[in-house]
Amino acid sequence: MLHNRMTKNLTSTDEKPLKEKTSEDFAKYFQTTYQPPSLKDARRRRRKDIDIHYDFDIRTDMQQVGVGKRFYIRTYGCQMNEHDTEVMAGIFEGMGYEATTDVNDADVILLNTCAIRENAENKVFGEIGHLKPLKLEKPDLLIGVCGCMSQEESVVNRILQKHPFIDMIFGTHNIHRLPDILREAIFGKEMVIEVWSKEGDIIENLPKVRKGQIKAWVNIMYGCDKFCTYCIVPYTRGKERSRRPEDIIEEVRHLARNGYKEVTLLGQNVNAYGKDFEDSSYGLGDLMEELSKIDIPRFRFMTSHPRDFDDRLIDVLAKGGNLMEHIHLPVQSGSSEILKIMGRKYSREHYMTLVAKMEERIPNVTFTTDIIVGFPNETEEQFEETLSIVREVEYDAAYTYIYSPREGTPAAKMEDNVPMEVKRERLQRLNQLVNELSLKKNKVFEGQVVDVLVEGESKKNPDVLSGYTRKSKLVNFRGPKSLVGKIVPVYITGAKTWTLDGDLVTESKR
Ligand code: 5AD
Ligand code: SF4
Repeated sequence: MLHNRMTKNLTSTDEKPLKEKTSEDFAKYFQTTYQPPSLKDARRRRRKDIDIHYDFDIRTDMQQVGVGKRFYIRTYGCQMNEHDTEVMAGIFEGMGYEATTDVNDADVILLNTCAIRENAENKVFGEIGHLKPLKLEKPDLLIGVCGCMSQEESVVNRILQKHPFIDMIFGTHNIHRLPDILREAIFGKEMVIEVWSKEGDIIENLPKVRKGQIKAWVNIMYGCDKFCTYCIVPYTRGKERSRRPEDIIEEVRHLARNGYKEVTLLGQNVNAYGKDFEDSSYGLGDLMEELSKIDIPRFRFMTSHPRDFDDRLIDVLAKGGNLMEHIHLPVQSGSSEILKIMGRKYSREHYMTLVAKMEERIPNVTFTTDIIVGFPNETEEQFEETLSIVREVEYDAAYTYIYSPREGTPAAKMEDNVPMEVKRERLQRLNQLVNELSLKKNKVFEGQVVDVLVEGESKKNPDVLSGYTRKSKLVNFRGPKSLVGKIVPVYITGAKTWTLDGDLVTESKR
């Protein structure tokens, strides 16, 4: 069912050519005909509605449309978005377009946006403003906004009102419709809006142009049904739906045949993998066990939810081998009271029991996490509980954020008595602790030999190579470029907060 989809065709109702229209013309038009994406509708879920499609195709009249033209996609936010960009790049290439890294050179520009925090959104609006002169200079340039922000009513309305020069707005469920959306934008010369509120099918055979040839992301599921009270993701990404294991296995086999060395399984809440299968109780543990038989040296997965992390998965991970012992396990807060209001569905004690169980069963396991400070009405004591859980778990790293109210989420309606300066100060204190621990955990590697998957030249110095250890530590060392894409032993000589320095262990030194 197509929901809240609307394609604008201003010329039929209004004689003014597009370029002469004012923001008011657009706003007036949309007020009467446009049904915006609705976060409320996005919440109404029915599991049964998921369909899997294997018939993606680019219509014949669009297969050559991009020949001699270039596309540019700017990606904001998480790995899921990065991977969606790889899919959109695949679709563009299927239409004959070539990629460019220079906006000035592009015939189509897409902003693949993130809605998780307000500052992510501000960056996008800033960029939209910067693109306006380019559009005025090159009227045939097409500019599109896609990704999570497009799923928000307020964002779509703001673009309509303030940035009518945008040509396309499409949502996270409409990526496969890119050729049709582009077609309407090119030939209709009108703004095209296509956002679905609650649809969420799985489209299997989408083309992909992956960013590298060493590491690959593979979606195992889409969406999130957890509805943590602060989080917009369940609304912007739709309901939880898992890909069939055979489709995932086939994709990973293909990556193995093409020499990929690392695969990261992606999902908003990977531990819920399989919960929507009505015909089996197959879960993430089963999937990882099957995948581990494929010739890929390293498997990772993200993001985990502590509530759904089951014993089966722990047992499978305990076997090690090509399953990495680094778990990203967002805690969000160390206070059971705050966790409750966040709707996380676990307590501090449950989290610590899970950590202890994994430490016992998975050799050398390490943890990283996500933490939010300054949730509405968080007290100093509750914040200190966050500090103490960080000390207790001794995370290798943590991504820390100040709570950002997201319109349409339950937490955004809560009154908040914590001033911003207090939140900032808490973030600073937390970061100081996180950094101290990171350094301490890195120091342990001094004098040890670690396996590094070499990714390329270091960003700061082209004479230095860099890559990651099994536990996701970035290592810099000197060595020949021929090592790129290989897993090599490196002797760690020094540890910093974020990185390790080392020397390549050559045959003669071993
Ligand atoms: N404010 C601040 N941080 C948030 N996150 C999710 N929603 C919000 C929000 N409204 C953080 C969580 C999540 C990470 C991806 O982003 O820590 O794990
Ligand atoms: Fe957001 Fe919670 Fe789902 Fe993570 S698990 S995406 S924080 S709702």
